[in-house]
Amino acid sequence: MTHAQRPIRVLMVCLGNICRSPTAEAVFRHHIELAGLSGRIEVDSAGIGDWHQGQAPDPRSCEAAAQRRYDLSALRARQVRGQDFVEFDYLFAMDRQNLEALQQLCPPQYRSKLGLFLAHGATGHEEVPDPYYCGGESFELVLDLVEAASAALVAALSARHALK
Ligand code: 4NP
Repeated sequence: MTHAQRPIRVLMVCLGNICRSPTAEAVFRHHIELAGLSGRIEVDSAGIGDWHQGQAPDPRSCEAAAQRRYDLSALRARQVRGQDFVEFDYLFAMDRQNLEALQQLCPPQYRSKLGLFLAHGATGHEEVPDPYYCGGESFELVLDLVEAASAALVAALSARHALK
């Protein structure tokens, strides 16, 4: 069977787009591939701020991800732009502060596209904590939370959009 529909587009959003959301992008992409849904679901990531525009992810995120065989090295930070609210079907914030910032930026007719990433996956957490000023184990927690939410989100999108 061929699938003429355009892919479902997901944007992962954090503050700087160098720690949490690039990790979420890479891990979620891996789960899309595992589910055999490459080409049916697409993912990108962006930051609320522009401080790290054009930069590769934080080396601590890259290293922690590489230990679990995710490669973040090709990703580059960019800021959320107005067109994202049009082009993406879902924009998932890593924490409440990011969600509030998205709500401020988002035209009212697209606000239903916004949500918290950890609404998916029974992690017991509502937010992916910002590891930038913490270091060490906080990068492991980011990966643990992002892996759980990614698996759950692929399953939820697959069911909701009848992708299989
Ligand atoms: P992220 O982490 O939002 O997970 O990418 C941060 C990265 C940079 C900054 C804050 C958080 N910063 O203030 O530059």
